[in-house]
Amino acid sequence: MSKRILVLQGDGIGPEIMAEAVKVLNLANEKYELGFELSSGELGGASYDKYGVPLADETLERARQADAVLLGAVGGPKWDGIDPALRPERGLLKIRSELGLFGNLRPAILYPQLAESSTLKPEVVSGLDILIVRELTGGIYFGQPREKRVLANGERQAYDTLPYSESEIRRIAKVGFDMAMVRNKKLCSVDKANVLASSQLWREVVEEVAKDYPEVELSHMYVDNCAMQLVRAPKQFDVIVTDNMFGDILSDQASMLTGSIGMLPSASLDVNGKGMYEPCHGSAPDIAGKGVANPLATILSVSMMLRYSFAQAEAADAIEQAVSLVLDQGLRTGDIYSEGCRQVGTAEMGDAVAEALKNL
Ligand code: NAI
Ligand code: MG
Repeated sequence: MSKRILVLQGDGIGPEIMAEAVKVLNLANEKYELGFELSSGELGGASYDKYGVPLADETLERARQADAVLLGAVGGPKWDGIDPALRPERGLLKIRSELGLFGNLRPAILYPQLAESSTLKPEVVSGLDILIVRELTGGIYFGQPREKRVLANGERQAYDTLPYSESEIRRIAKVGFDMAMVRNKKLCSVDKANVLASSQLWREVVEEVAKDYPEVELSHMYVDNCAMQLVRAPKQFDVIVTDNMFGDILSDQASMLTGSIGMLPSASLDVNGKGMYEPCHGSAPDIAGKGVANPLATILSVSMMLRYSFAQAEAADAIEQAVSLVLDQGLRTGDIYSEGCRQVGTAEMGDAVAEALKNL
């Protein structure tokens, strides 16, 4: 089995957090003799600056050849003025879509050491362990037509389109049910079926798929209610399956239950289990270049990569354990800092995880 990993660090804090993730990956590679070959490329603004496009054909081809892609984050105000079709985020959407990475897994787990970092009461969030399964290559972020135009009366108007086909819904629903089967057999499908035609089809198809999973307890919830329930009583959920935009928003919201968006990893998978792994957060331009970003979401994304793309459960568990040990030691980046802990920068956090992994 070949083990080629393409590393795309991206923009903003991307290079900073990726340096730490690669440190941990290299160490795991050595310690567990995993035989990974790493190479790197550009995506987003970094690619725009070098090639004039946010995803060069050559980079896309290398991503196709790789067995997994590890990504930092893209975007930033530097590219605000450019042609919207060439924005860094378009490169990200394109690579997800071209690689067919429709199944986005976003676990939101509260490390017990961070109960104080969450803005919610400890009793509401303690022990939280939920999984958001987000559809990633369809819906309103890709739907055509989309347009910004000037009407005959001179007024500006813009619109987007939210299409979902039966097959797109069926395959993501299956991922949701499969995940529910290996967890607690509880799935909540989130939509807006009281208003949107696409959501009505979503609900219909999810009900059809449910027939193949009689052991899974399925519920449906409107997205606005889900947003409320996630902060009221998040532990009522186990696996949530939802569309591209709803999943984007709900997973950012869920991140705050765990203390910080700097803690949330993700996996984006295709039909064969090939994957791209990235933190849920963006390029954080407000803190880029300062060496203060939390690298743990990216480090935990490495762990997901080992688990889902390479079936290396032992090494994946070890990385998660190393993260937990470092939190036990009281090390915190600014975003998860609480009184009595020791505040550290990005590199010091990465070093500490690597050290803990080495000593496991
Ligand atoms: P963001 O996730 O970059 O930042 C939101 C807030 O969280 C900021 O205050 C930031 O400092 C903080 N934050 C994010 N990651 C952090 C980390 N690892 N450690 C500590 N604090 C962290 O979202 P924002 O500000 O809406 O977007 C910034 C840029 O990133 C935009 O250009 C946006 O389009 C892009 N973006 C890219 C994504 C990706 O590459 N997957 C996802 C989301 C946004
Ligand atoms: Mg987002």
